[in-house]
Amino acid sequence: MIKIDLERNLVDIDTPDGVASYPIGSPEAFKWISQAWLRSGWDTKYVYSFTWMGRPVIQLPEDMLRIQELVYRLKPDILIETGIAHGGGLVFHASLFKAMGKGRVIGVDIDIRPHNRQAIEAHELADHITMIEGSSIDAAIVAKVRQHIQPSERGLVILDSCHSRAHVLAELRAYAEFVAVDSYMVACDGIMQEIVGAPRTRPEWVTDNPQSAVKDFLAERDDFALDEPVFPFNEGQITERVTYWPGAFLKRVK
Ligand SMILES: C[S@@+](CC[C@H](N)C(=O)[O-])C[C@H]1O[C@@H](n2cnc3c(N)ncnc32)[C@H](O)[C@@H]1O
Repeated sequence: MIKIDLERNLVDIDTPDGVASYPIGSPEAFKWISQAWLRSGWDTKYVYSFTWMGRPVIQLPEDMLRIQELVYRLKPDILIETGIAHGGGLVFHASLFKAMGKGRVIGVDIDIRPHNRQAIEAHELADHITMIEGSSIDAAIVAKVRQHIQPSERGLVILDSCHSRAHVLAELRAYAEFVAVDSYMVACDGIMQEIVGAPRTRPEWVTDNPQSAVKDFLAERDDFALDEPVFPFNEGQITERVTYWPGAFLKRVK
């Protein structure tokens, strides 16, 4: 059990050895409260409440800020995002590329709803966005992605489509070729394994999840490594992300 006591300014946690109390201003308390906040946000569908430049974006705002830090540091030529939904992610990245004066986005989705396609195609940033419809692990779809990329272009990949272990592993294998050395593949929504038992979850998510896929992938490759991004600015005490994407950042190391 977690008890947040704002009169004593303490967070109490039940442990096998009794109650552990942490000052509210400690990183430990922040971690416990964040865990509770993430779970409450899952149950209330908090991430389904944001837009970026008019398009719904189904992400936790901190995850967007952190990926922005990476995109700005790496300044890739191309960003591939599997899982388009309403297109908020595509528009978000396109807006960064427009501001940086370089880069474009390729989105892949098995089902691009006509109203979403229409809205994305009519968006101010549409000239930075290419959409491809089909399963992200279909070889013909991966070949279409390849047609839009020059071999010399440096890519960054965000995997946010189907989050089953098998699908994410197949995506990691298929999209690795587009990732430049020192760039990343990001396997989103590893939080699945941590919120089993919550509404809209399944018991098998304990193992059937993106974090398991990342482990499987790393067991067969030595050119990628898990690489937790370090905050480029930090004058506070918190050094860990509050995230839906734990264990997500795979860096191409060679
Ligand atoms: C979580 S949403 C993506 C959210 C989006 N990235 C954003 O930032 O708002 C997941 C999307 O993945 C798509 N999807 C599911 N299975 C897929 C597959 N096999 N291949 C490609 N896309 C898939 C769904 O149609 C859905 O639009």
